[in-house]
Amino acid sequence: MKKLLLGTVLAGVVAIGAACSNNSSMQGHDMSNMNTKKENTSNESSKQQLPLATNTEVLSGKEINLTAKEALLQINDQVKLPVYTYNGSVPGAQIRVKQGDNVKIVLKNELPEPITIHWHGYPVPNNQDGVPGVTMDAIKPGETFTYEFTATVPGTYWYHSHQKSAEQVDKGLYGTLIVEPKNEEKVDRDYTLVLDEWMSNPDEGNMDMSGMDHSNMNNGNSSDNQQMDMSSMGHDMMNMYDIFTINGKSGDAVQPLKVKKGEKVRLRLVNAGYMSHKLHLHGHEFKIVATDGQPLKDPQPIKDELLNIAPGERYDIEFIANNPGEWLLECHGNMKGTDGMKVKIQYEGQANNTDKANAKENLPVVDITKYGKYETGPFTLDQKYDVEYTMDLGTAMGKDGMIFTINGKTYPETAPVNVKKGDLVKVKLVNNSPKDLHPMHLHGHFFQVLSKNGKPITGSPLIKDTLNLKPGEEYVVAFKADNPGNWMFHCHDLHHASAGMVTEVKYTDYKSDYTPDPNDTTNKGE
Ligand code: C2O
Ligand code: CU
Repeated sequence: MKKLLLGTVLAGVVAIGAACSNNSSMQGHDMSNMNTKKENTSNESSKQQLPLATNTEVLSGKEINLTAKEALLQINDQVKLPVYTYNGSVPGAQIRVKQGDNVKIVLKNELPEPITIHWHGYPVPNNQDGVPGVTMDAIKPGETFTYEFTATVPGTYWYHSHQKSAEQVDKGLYGTLIVEPKNEEKVDRDYTLVLDEWMSNPDEGNMDMSGMDHSNMNNGNSSDNQQMDMSSMGHDMMNMYDIFTINGKSGDAVQPLKVKKGEKVRLRLVNAGYMSHKLHLHGHEFKIVATDGQPLKDPQPIKDELLNIAPGERYDIEFIANNPGEWLLECHGNMKGTDGMKVKIQYEGQANNTDKANAKENLPVVDITKYGKYETGPFTLDQKYDVEYTMDLGTAMGKDGMIFTINGKTYPETAPVNVKKGDLVKVKLVNNSPKDLHPMHLHGHFFQVLSKNGKPITGSPLIKDTLNLKPGEEYVVAFKADNPGNWMFHCHDLHHASAGMVTEVKYTDYKSDYTPDPNDTTNKGE
């Protein structure tokens, strides 16, 4: 009898022990986080049913199948988060096609909510652009939608949901789209690195800016609540992103990049997050060969300069592996998550002279507007334009929280950029927000950056789809209205977009064959 009792007690202890070690977050000993850990445990049963996220696959061919579904992402050995994926991984499957290909993507939605795919940076026909309420209805749970477009331009692009995008992209619903040029200059290694930020306690950050609840914000530290003014809120929101990742992994969990001595290596850097990151490649000279998929003219080799990558932007860099050992590509700065955003570059078969992280080292930041060789691009500052538009980007206090405005208005009240097919369009962007960065993204077109803070660009012609404006900065860009439709022009800090910083480039001579579903309660453009 005694024995049996003891057995029962022991079994109980073992069970509790197992429960604890299952909950990987229990391995941390930070008592201040005990509350959040308890919440995680209560979620555990539903999380447990989700499959672990897989490695990112590469898909090409005539018909590409994507399934949007849930998974559990093991970000590092401490943290597992429930995520949204395309094909079970974060980033989702890489779509890799050749210039000139007809691309057909069959997307099945197995998520519990409606989604879309937007092809960020890619000049697709307007009805394939994936903007709910503007170009298509969101794809409901269980439904399938087929996207089709021609891969007209080569380069590094990405795709993501445009439905409730501030939330869905945050949950991992994105992947990369690589279009290889017809006449390919082969590199020996071609790696894609997608940057992102996560909250180790996502439930806390899930409130949007407008519905933000002070009592939740500071983990119940009530003395601070009173002092918290709305102007600091955007900043605090960003502080909740405490884990930075490369390809869905953080710190030691990031898969090292293998190289051999003498090889030419291309890194395609994509920022899928909402924060800018400054990356430092250790031990090697490198060239920035392209940004936002577009090549730069005569890029010169640089070393020990930081590459600043804003939300939505892409930079392709190339280097020759001529310095055997183990090196880092690391994020610089002093945010909570900074040291997780680093990846090892390992020479195969070479003794390791191990590199040291040095995230706080002060290094110059590359000014892309002065990089590469100057020549005249397709547009100039003083030529004649058919349409001119000024975008004053601002931050203000709305009636339910912070709003982010274009000329004082929030979408859909913002004035569209009205164009006709063939128009030459010049847009002046000014960031009048005191603290916020605004990485402005135009759908369906590339624009040429002509001036920064009133001075003409002195580097390579700079052709982009996403342009980051720091507070006080002013840029002039130009593009040709050559892709009829209704196109979003918005901030890619998607929290800013959902709080108003969106407008449209509207072709007045375009007749859309899409009529929004009147029963769809989704917010237009989100
Ligand atoms: Cu990458 Cu409208 O967005
Ligand atoms: Cu913004």
